[in-house]
Amino acid sequence: MRQPDVMRMLILGGTAFLGRALARRAVAQGIEVTALARGSAPVPDGVRFIRADRDRDDALVPVAHEQWDAIVDLTRQPGHARRAATGLHARHRILISSANVYARFDQPERSEDAALLAPLDADELPDMSHYGEAKVACEQAVSLAARRDGSTATIIRAGLIGGYGDWSGRSGYYPWRFAHPTGRDVLVPPDLDFPVALIDVDDLVAWVLQCAERRVDGVFNATGETTTLGHLLDICKGVAASPARPRPVEAHHLAAAGIGAWMGTPSLPLWIDDPDWRWFATLDTRAARAAGLHTRPLAETLRSALAYEQQREVARATGLTDDEERALRARLTGDTTLT
Ligand SMILES: NC(=O)c1ccc[n+]([C@@H]2O[C@H](COP(=O)([O-])OP(=O)(O)OC[C@H]3O[C@@H](n4cnc5c(N)ncnc54)[C@H](OP(=O)(O)O)[C@@H]3O)[C@@H](O)[C@H]2O)c1
Repeated sequence: MRQPDVMRMLILGGTAFLGRALARRAVAQGIEVTALARGSAPVPDGVRFIRADRDRDDALVPVAHEQWDAIVDLTRQPGHARRAATGLHARHRILISSANVYARFDQPERSEDAALLAPLDADELPDMSHYGEAKVACEQAVSLAARRDGSTATIIRAGLIGGYGDWSGRSGYYPWRFAHPTGRDVLVPPDLDFPVALIDVDDLVAWVLQCAERRVDGVFNATGETTTLGHLLDICKGVAASPARPRPVEAHHLAAAGIGAWMGTPSLPLWIDDPDWRWFATLDTRAARAAGLHTRPLAETLRSALAYEQQREVARATGLTDDEERALRARLTGDTTLT
């Protein structure tokens, strides 16, 4: 029989990086968790799983008759968010949104009242270049539902999420590369002063659960402390106990070698060669911290990201392969040996 005082949480997602970590911790905290997704990977033990494709209009029927204490939506599709907002009943709603909702990134640490992109009208995200607009539309759907039915809602604009399970490799590439050098140096972006911030997936998950328990109402940025790429690389070198030194490569050499920035293959992550995007990773997080967000030291996140990289089973979507790093070094100096 159901315990009346046990929180019942519906996670719309739960099979990928953040949602899976959330489901696992929620179960460990004694929350009764249901996850709804297509099932591209298994949910953690103890989670009731409902297989459904939210592209279909009837996807939410199996969970629509229930009264949820909290619903956490991880979607990026406005249509998914709209249908969940109108078709599901909850005392509290949480949307995992993104720093990409902001209109500009040329100033440090945007606060929550900074200008947003226009919401995407369409139900479906045409491609990732409209990701920010789509998340604005998802935010609006959740806020509207909360106003309409008198529930509460936490909109969480997450910055870059890192740590154990970061399949993208953005947080894991440099720790891994320092742990597996192809030479005396590790090739890194030219701008070591580039502003960097990221949030450990486990810190974000812990705070999402606090928001659910305390029904925290409002819009919040969530990321770690702002630092520089140079400082992050020093930490990576330490975490990997690596003798290799970071070696900045000028942007024109990277461009000539077809090496991109931020994410993708081949790339050097965690920087963007565009002044309009310079402060992209950084957010003003005072409101979230006042509402209980705690972020751990960066070294711990990078250590977790390295642990994940050491046993990753899917290809990294970021960085340089050994051969690509050797080829770039050869272009620069002719030094292709590990000495
Ligand atoms: N990674 C970052 O650095 C970062 C930064 C800021 C914000 N965010 C946000 O943080 C969240 C990350 O979530 P995540 O890592 O758990 O997962 P995700 O890769 O963003 O996927 C979201 C979840 O939605 C499910 N899903 C996708 N299409 C679906 C469909 N048609 N029907 C039913 N379910 C569907 C997926 O499961 P199935 O494939 O099994 O269906 C998955 O569990 C997202 O909201 C993202 O926008 C991420």
